[in-house]
Amino acid sequence: MIPQKGEIRIAASTGEFYREAAEEFTRLSREAVDREGHFTVALSGGTTPAGLYELLADQADTFRNNIPWGGIHFFFGDERHVGPDHPASNYRMAQTSLLSKVPVLESNLHRIEAESPDPDRAARNYEEVLKKIFQLKSGEMPRFDLVLLGMGADGHTASLFPNTNVLRERERLVAAVRVAKSGACRITLTPPVFCSAACVIILVSGEEKAETLLSVLQGDFLPDRFPVQLIRPTEGRLLWIVDSQAARLLNIEGEEKKRGN
Ligand code: 6PG
Repeated sequence: MIPQKGEIRIAASTGEFYREAAEEFTRLSREAVDREGHFTVALSGGTTPAGLYELLADQADTFRNNIPWGGIHFFFGDERHVGPDHPASNYRMAQTSLLSKVPVLESNLHRIEAESPDPDRAARNYEEVLKKIFQLKSGEMPRFDLVLLGMGADGHTASLFPNTNVLRERERLVAAVRVAKSGACRITLTPPVFCSAACVIILVSGEEKAETLLSVLQGDFLPDRFPVQLIRPTEGRLLWIVDSQAARLLNIEGEEKKRGN
C-alpha cells in the first residue's frame, strides 16, 4: 500500500542533501517572485534545516545572490513556547543561520510571538497574521508557495505529535499543543494549512529515523501514530529529501525514485 503521494529523493551525502533542498528553494522563490511579485514560505524548526539555511545564506554565487530576498515573506510552521532569544526558539535558529545574513525586509518576517504567556493567545494572534497577509475570507486556508518540514523519530512533524487532538483539526489555522514527553507547550500550524500548500518539502536525516520512515512511506496509513502521514497537499506537490542513513530501510531502487501520483 502506498499511503502517501509524493516524490522521494535520496541524497548520497550531506552536501547533496542540503544542495537539493537549496536548489528547490532558489528555483521556487525565483519563479514565484517573477510570477506574483512575492514568495511565501513557512520555515521548519528543529536541527536539520540549519544546514539548508546556512547554505542559502553563505553560498553567494550559487544561492544567496540568486534569491529574490526582498520578495520573500517568511513564516514559521511551528514554534516552541519561548521568547525569540531563547536557545530553543525556532525563530532564533532561523535568524542566526539565515535571516540575519540576507537582505530580508523586516516587515516580511512573520514570526510566531511565542513569548506570550498564554500559548492559545499566541496561536490566535498568529492565525490573525495569516488571515491578514493571505487576505483570507472566512473558512479559507492560506496557500503557501512552500512549506518546509522535518520529521521526528516518532513520526511527528511541525508540532503535530502522535495521538493528539490537533491531528483532527479542520478549521483552525494555528493551535497551541502540549508535548506529552516534556509537558512543554508549542504553537503549530494545523494539518489543513499544510495540506493547502503549493509545495511541501520534508527533510529527513539520520539513522534513528530509518524505521519510522519505512513505516511512514511504505507501511499502512496510521496518522495517529505517524502524524507526518497527514501531510498530503490536496493541490500541491510533496517532495521528500532524505539522506542515505534515514533511507537505509526503504525498498527503493536507484538513488532517486518518483512515486505514483
Ligand atoms: C521543531 C520542528 C519539528 C522537527 C522534527 C525534526 O520545532 O522541532 O518543527 O517537527 O522538524 O522534530 O527535528 P530534527 O530536525 O531536529 O530532527
